Amino acid sequence: MHGQNPPEENERLDDGRRRTLKALGAVGATAGVGGAAGWSDVASALGRRRDQSAVPRQQTDGAVLEDRYLQIALLAAREAAAIHDEQFGEIKTAETKAPQQLVTEVDTEAEQAIRDTIRDELGDEFEEDGHTLFGEEQGGTRSGDFVWIIDPLDGTTNYVRGIPHFCVSIAVVREGELHAGLVYYSPRDEVYAAVAGEGAIKFEDTGGDPTEVESVVPLSVTDVSTIEESFNSVGFYSGASAVNPRYFLLFREFVAESLGIRQLGAAAVDMVLLAEGAFDTFSCWALKPVDVAAGTLIVQEAGGRVSDFRGDDDVETILRGNVLATNGPLHGKVLGRYRNPRTTLDDLKPEN
Ligand code: IPD
Ligand code: CA
Ligand code: CA
Repeated sequence: MHGQNPPEENERLDDGRRRTLKALGAVGATAGVGGAAGWSDVASALGRRRDQSAVPRQQTDGAVLEDRYLQIALLAAREAAAIHDEQFGEIKTAETKAPQQLVTEVDTEAEQAIRDTIRDELGDEFEEDGHTLFGEEQGGTRSGDFVWIIDPLDGTTNYVRGIPHFCVSIAVVREGELHAGLVYYSPRDEVYAAVAGEGAIKFEDTGGDPTEVESVVPLSVTDVSTIEESFNSVGFYSGASAVNPRYFLLFREFVAESLGIRQLGAAAVDMVLLAEGAFDTFSCWALKPVDVAAGTLIVQEAGGRVSDFRGDDDVETILRGNVLATNGPLHGKVLGRYRNPRTTLDDLKPEN
């Protein structure tokens, strides 16, 4: 398939080989799976990750990577990640596509590369089996037997400002249910992936055959069960998230009582960091379907829970973007704090 590509596509394949060298440590490598400790290794060393045997859905037999749609998602994400790599640190201009929303040529080129790869790989199946594409930059429809939900660059503002924290996010919704989810953390060539019923995994992408990936690590959430011990990713990113007093008060609960909060700027990465046990909760108000689709399945398959702030975990509800994701033991507790915060806004008035 790649042999028939135009010259610019072949340049990307060359880039894929460069990425292989990078992963092997020959070119400016960053440590990943199998290298220096990743977040999950650290969480594990601290004894905070769930006992592997206690997570029935988690498997290590490579079943995730045998899924054809997941494999195609990987090939597509790789193309987009190569575009991230090429231009990171070089971007000079970004447009404001909507208030507080930047877009660059990397977003648009990466989405086109993902769309082209999915169509090429599926060939006639694309039309015959009812596939549709829904991407952040080009839009599309979310009705069809197979809906591909694509964020070609999650964390655009980080990207533009030179902060190496962004990813590609691709999910496949099959007959209304999340079937596959993949988050490609391009700064480290690390892939987080899940297939419904098959568990969630992480591996370092070396650019080879998806079925021959080595060093696959199963993902599992923590078993932290108190707000006091919890480490929380909390998103206040836009005006749309700044309208809900209950959400502010939940934020206050975490700030006042938990181990800490972080706001890292790429929602899909936040979700997979929860899946691998770095965070215990992720909450965000007013996200988009492309931000949360893949991460939701990866969290669920790692043993966690995802819902809206009423506790509704229907896929369409979650894709509306008001999302609470947790390790499971904390879910009811966080929902309870959201419904019945321990303080009111009036309690927060400064004394002078
Ligand atoms: C953004 C990131 C960010 C979230 C924003 C999203 P983008 O996505 O996920 O973490 O808070 O609401 O728009 O625009 O960089 O793809
Ligand atoms: Ca996004
Ligand atoms: Ca985006």
